[in-house]
Amino acid sequence: MDIKLLKQQAAEKAVEFVKPGMVVGLGTGSTAIFAIYKIGQLLKDGKLKNIIGVPTSIASDNEARKLGIPLAGLDEQPVIDITIDGADEVDDYLNLIKGGGGAHLREKVVAQASKKLIIVCDDSKISHKLGEKFYVPVEVIPFAEKPVKDYLLKLGAQVTVRKRADGSTFISDEQNLILDATFGIIENPFELSAKLKEKAGIVEHGLFTGLTSMVIVASTEGIKTLGKY
Ligand code: A5P
Repeated sequence: MDIKLLKQQAAEKAVEFVKPGMVVGLGTGSTAIFAIYKIGQLLKDGKLKNIIGVPTSIASDNEARKLGIPLAGLDEQPVIDITIDGADEVDDYLNLIKGGGGAHLREKVVAQASKKLIIVCDDSKISHKLGEKFYVPVEVIPFAEKPVKDYLLKLGAQVTVRKRADGSTFISDEQNLILDATFGIIENPFELSAKLKEKAGIVEHGLFTGLTSMVIVASTEGIKTLGKY
């Protein structure tokens, strides 16, 4: 089955949890976008009303705007009822790696402001332990590139500066660099998260520990949910 279809199925299933009057965190990436499309469609058809979206990136903001989804920032809507977002890797305890699209800083701010975080993905994202499949994106202020790179190397990671497809340096929505740090299997994501938080110059990293309410996973065998809403 087409992987895009699996992403769409997972995202649309999550939208079933969105009810009239809710403030909804709009995730970023090729899976979460299907939730944005669906919400836009339901609003247009009059099947869903009084939704306010809080986008997690400029890209999602642009898409939601095109669809006419009413939007707000965290100043106006500091409490989000439900956020639907994707992930790059999900472990047995529903900890995540995010930031493959470089949006994990705003995504984590929105996730922490959310009563419920629903992650949508296809089954290729599921691992026993984080790091089996994906590196940890680390957002860094440009001034601190060198010391942070050295710090990550000292922690045992292999580090690359994220580039765009055209070879230019990737710059995040917040005008920072992304260092992609490959640690291999991460035995304790809470511990690594704390170590990354300690270093000045790191604005945020892609380990999302203890934030997920539920994961909706689509595979060729159907849709299953992990965790509880
Ligand atoms: C954006 O920076 C990410 O955190 C995405 O949520 C994550 O990379 C999942 O994206 P896809 O759904 O495109 O795989």
